[in-house]
Amino acid sequence: MADKEIRVAVAGIGCCTSHLVQGIYKYHDVEDNSTWIPGLMHPVLGNYKIRDIKYVAAFDIDKAKIGKDLSEAIFARPNNMAIFAEVPKQNVTVKMGPIMDGAPEHLRKFYDVADNYEPCDVVKELKDSGAEILVNFIPTGSEEAAKFYANCAIEAGCAFINCMPEFISSNPEFVEKSKNAKVPLIGDDIKSQVGATILHRVITQLCVDRGVKINKTSQLNFAGNADFINLVKRGETKEFSKKDSVESVLPYKAEVSVGFGFIGLQNDNKICRLYWEGENFGGNPITIQLECSIEDSANAAGIIIDAIRYSKIALDRNIGGPLYSASSYLMKHPPKKYPDEEAKDNCEKFIAGEIDW
Ligand SMILES: NC(=O)c1ccc[n+]([C@@H]2O[C@H](COP(=O)([O-])OP(=O)(O)OC[C@H]3O[C@@H](n4cnc5c(N)ncnc54)[C@H](O)[C@@H]3O)[C@@H](O)[C@H]2O)c1
Repeated sequence: MADKEIRVAVAGIGCCTSHLVQGIYKYHDVEDNSTWIPGLMHPVLGNYKIRDIKYVAAFDIDKAKIGKDLSEAIFARPNNMAIFAEVPKQNVTVKMGPIMDGAPEHLRKFYDVADNYEPCDVVKELKDSGAEILVNFIPTGSEEAAKFYANCAIEAGCAFINCMPEFISSNPEFVEKSKNAKVPLIGDDIKSQVGATILHRVITQLCVDRGVKINKTSQLNFAGNADFINLVKRGETKEFSKKDSVESVLPYKAEVSVGFGFIGLQNDNKICRLYWEGENFGGNPITIQLECSIEDSANAAGIIIDAIRYSKIALDRNIGGPLYSASSYLMKHPPKKYPDEEAKDNCEKFIAGEIDW
């Protein structure tokens, strides 16, 4: 086993996981923080380089992915993200996870769900593979399966990174269990690198700081990947997580609206349209409109590449329970919310060992 290896398991081998795995090869040769590297917040985080991450276990429920090497499964349909790196054989076979609520009717049209396969013993797989961290990338709305994977991670002594809007790191039951088991938690629901949520928060904060009263604000998101097929039908928790993230920077009540659309031909390209309506000095009207177009899964993977390394630092320091600094900076619905600037400072203090949360 290499000196500083970070052994990672992933549940859900969709578009985001594909970009997370591709990223290891794209950034394989990054050595230090001396050069500004496009796409990365921390070329090296703590002492950890991106190439220190090694995938050791993987779970899915789609026949197109189960039994394949991870390097092949990440490119199987319906994954339709961009390809930006060649991925060599990983020697990690994707195992059948428990289906639970991960395959609603609307997704079955796109996944070849392995109903007749026997699910593996996830805790055993985690232990046997030596996984230290489990990243949860299953579809939004799969509450039962998300809780199942969180419990497996805790039982196997793995850190858990919850990328989706089922509330784990903000659920008192999981907070207690993870503290007792000395297992770090980061969650819930990724706040992408530069996407709808962070832009919505930043412009809203700007208006508040400069005395502009916002009366209404909205966010429309549309893309053509499997995540959006799901969000259109089963996006309630995502809508809540997004609205909550914006409302938490408003010191007063305003109408906040969030919507999703599926446009197949866009593949993994997501467009978000943001709108604000309010009043400035003298009660005069102001409107702001903003549009952002990004590769959706890369936007998420660019966050998780850091979340993995924060988790590893916590494991090295024997810290369990929610990592409030990383969760607040990297996630839409963290257990404790801080303004983005303060959350960023807290993360740097955590890396430096000045705080242990
Ligand atoms: N920018 C982003 O893309 C972004 C941002 C924030 C949050 N997220 C969240 O991350 C999650 C993953 O997004 P994605 O675009 O990779 O989705 P995806 O639909 O491409 O991939 C989901 C994968 O999970 C698998 N799956 C379903 N049920 C499972 C189960 N019970 N066990 C194991 N695997 C199961 C599916 O077969 C599929 O391969 C979603 O919940 C999404 O909302 C994504």
